[in-house]
Amino acid sequence: MSGTAVRVRAPAKVNLALHVGPVRPDGFHRLATVYQAVDLFEEVTARPTARGAVVVRTEGAEGRQVPGVADDPGHLAVRAAEALRAYAGVRAGVDLHVRKLVPVAGGMAGGSADAAATLVACDALWELGSDRRTLLRLAAGLGSDVPFALLGGTAVGTGRGEVLRPVPGAATRTWLVVSGFGGLPTPRVYAELDRLRGAAGVLPALHPGLLDPLLAALPADDPRLLAAALHNDLHAAAVSLQPVLTEVIAAGTAAGAVAGTVSGSGPSVLLLVDGQTDGGARGGMEDRAQPDARPDAETTARRLRPVLRRLVPEATLSVVRGPVAGPMAGPSRPDPA
Ligand code: C5P
Repeated sequence: MSGTAVRVRAPAKVNLALHVGPVRPDGFHRLATVYQAVDLFEEVTARPTARGAVVVRTEGAEGRQVPGVADDPGHLAVRAAEALRAYAGVRAGVDLHVRKLVPVAGGMAGGSADAAATLVACDALWELGSDRRTLLRLAAGLGSDVPFALLGGTAVGTGRGEVLRPVPGAATRTWLVVSGFGGLPTPRVYAELDRLRGAAGVLPALHPGLLDPLLAALPADDPRLLAAALHNDLHAAAVSLQPVLTEVIAAGTAAGAVAGTVSGSGPSVLLLVDGQTDGGARGGMEDRAQPDARPDAETTARRLRPVLRRLVPEATLSVVRGPVAGPMAGPSRPDPA
């Protein structure tokens, strides 16, 4: 095995619906959610090492440092490799290199993608051939979103998010992702939701059929059906902690997005764009001449950028599409390092 490296990409996720129920005895909230994997990836390269330890080095785009991520045993990639090592009785160490392109603590499960990619990469590196069920079980022990990061595509998540049912047939959608607001730790957002609900005397419940409108909208051609069915119970809590998010979403829809919401626990903002039109007009006709026509992602982004610069100068904007497949190990190859 020495001299080989395995490189695996794992996608970020968005929650198209996120209903938060009561707190369970273990402190987690019961969820009914629809996850979708989008084409923004974390990339993990696993290399054998002579040291019998798991070590990680993280870098952002173009080799930049990633604030808020410590290359220590708490890193989800390290925890994933350690979990697989313990389960399979592997004594070898591994050198992990994480190329981080998903916003940190942004509500898009970048850390979970690191863990999922690491499980797949180390499983291939150590030639374990673990079945999917085993990896999903290990993933659930690492975090609520890690099993979905392993699965990809579109799926309903229940339990604390880790019990998955794949949903085939979703149409491809295009989103603008606005990030760079600084991180919003997930526990803080859930705690804020509990506080808001307590203050309003709301008793949370998850009713059967809650996800039906969203599931019905998934295969539809018209993104406006999806726009009407998007739902996120954590939206109010994220906005309460970062009020500027409301202005960013309003600016996004004014620029032409069909709908906007925070992604998961935020603070990344998702703006659904039509994606069918070209250059802001359908069939060569101006927006004005066809009130239903919606601008595409590039046009919406061009209109939104100057407003964003005023609202959140450090914000970044990217175009993503989903659903995409989950991580897969490429063949082991000579170490590129
Ligand atoms: O499972 P994960 O480590 O991603 O969860 C991070 C935190 O988010 C938990 O410690 C908890 O505060 C909150 N959480 C929750 N209910 C869930 C998922 C996460 O309260 N279903």
